[in-house]
Amino acid sequence: MKEKVLSLLKESGEYISGEQISEAFGVSRSAVWKAVKALRQEGYEIDSVTNKGYRLVKMPNILSSAQISQGLDTQLVGSRIAVIHTVDSTNDEVKRQAANGADSGLVVIAEEQTAGKGRLGRSWKSAPGGIYFSILLRPELAPADVPGITLAVGLAVCLAIREFTGCEAMIKWPNDIIIGRKKICGILTEMAAQTDMVDYVVVGAGINVNNKSFAPEISQKATSLYIETGGELELSKLMQSVLKHIDERIGSYLTSVSIDDAKLYKSLCATIGRNVSLERGDKKIEGTATDITFDGKLIITLADGSTLEVGSGEVTVQGIY
Ligand code: BTN
Repeated sequence: MKEKVLSLLKESGEYISGEQISEAFGVSRSAVWKAVKALRQEGYEIDSVTNKGYRLVKMPNILSSAQISQGLDTQLVGSRIAVIHTVDSTNDEVKRQAANGADSGLVVIAEEQTAGKGRLGRSWKSAPGGIYFSILLRPELAPADVPGITLAVGLAVCLAIREFTGCEAMIKWPNDIIIGRKKICGILTEMAAQTDMVDYVVVGAGINVNNKSFAPEISQKATSLYIETGGELELSKLMQSVLKHIDERIGSYLTSVSIDDAKLYKSLCATIGRNVSLERGDKKIEGTATDITFDGKLIITLADGSTLEVGSGEVTVQGIY
């Protein structure tokens, strides 16, 4: 109802009476009042004048499920959108909801996380200004095919950032998004699975959007869209664009494992062509990243011309943070 009332107020631009709104949606005046109250709580300035009705005065630059859902034309992602002001970790929140039977496509978004999780057991700094979100998927996939979902999400976020900001975002394999040498987004995928079948997948991403600065320990490695563009971005609009792109790329991965997407991923992958190193046991291996396989593994060419396929683990890329 909140979304519907918001869209009517936006469309009208003028005062619109509670009666007109309740008639338009076939609900009671008190339901309209509740929706207005909820919108105000989210920061919308809505004027109300006796005998005239309601008028939308100002939209807040916040993550609002009403703003994000409005006009969001997706097949799966965003079937339900929940915005939580502060949460421990959106990945953990989605896992809790998954355990309670939540449907595929659920998106949980937070403005701040108190226990944000990064890859390899690291923590993820999640101060206000960024967007922290996780998506629940219940794909009919074998566990081995899940990394492809992460790559698809990385590609989608990269494309959305490029389209929305004009910044030349690139992908650091497998799924960090960078601008220049610094990280703008990280992705953490977790799953619950049987041996041969996935129960659910949670893909979580943190995007540095309107963050003005970073803690000293990460300021050399991290950047934000605010720092890159010099201005604040509309959080809900960006989120909508990100969800739209993710829906398209996941849809394409789950239905066809598209060759075009693999090509696009490679063309935006900053790792290719760079010198890389990785640790295998107590050995340090160095080479040049030369390609990505169709199933998303990195191919490293060593000095003797032999090649190595890397499926996971930490690859250090020279020249990127
Ligand atoms: C990384 O690069 O190490 C991955 C970072 C992933 C962070 C996101 S923020 C939203 C979601 N919830 C979490 O706790 N982590 C992911």
